[in-house]
Amino acid sequence: MNKQEKYERLYQQIKELLKKEADIIAKMATINAVLYHKIDYFFWCGFYRLINEELIVGPYQGPVACQKLEKNKGVCWTSVNQKDIVIVEDVHQFPDHIACDSRSQSEIVVPIKNNSGKIVAVFDVDSKTKASFDKQDAEGLQKIVSLIYDL
Ligand code: SME
Repeated sequence: MNKQEKYERLYQQIKELLKKEADIIAKMATINAVLYHKIDYFFWCGFYRLINEELIVGPYQGPVACQKLEKNKGVCWTSVNQKDIVIVEDVHQFPDHIACDSRSQSEIVVPIKNNSGKIVAVFDVDSKTKASFDKQDAEGLQKIVSLIYDL
């Protein structure tokens, strides 16, 4: 199975699970549990929620992460400020990268909009290998996290 097929399969599986509960945090927790256990290069995955102009950690899987991210620093804030997906092949080359765990080498961050189009959270994934994430991860993850508000 190639990456695209794998994401399609995970999308269908997660969609079925998320239908069962409307609560946003429950949906986030379920997405993490499925992806973390099904994609082998996911070393850490989780949500940071934008609350009162702060990025505060939400449901996640993996090693203990920073609870709050310093404003306008790092990959997650870049994604919020650019309103776009950010892929980082080598986190050590990213200015202001916030290292919650020194083992992380590459990263992808996907912004999440609510039904009014406002960014309310980001989905962040770290890998222990450089350049783990590409366009297929971006498309696959975008589609999966869009289920949080669209379903
Ligand atoms: N590296 C992120 C911080 C979150 S951790 O990766 C879990 C950043 O630079 O925003």
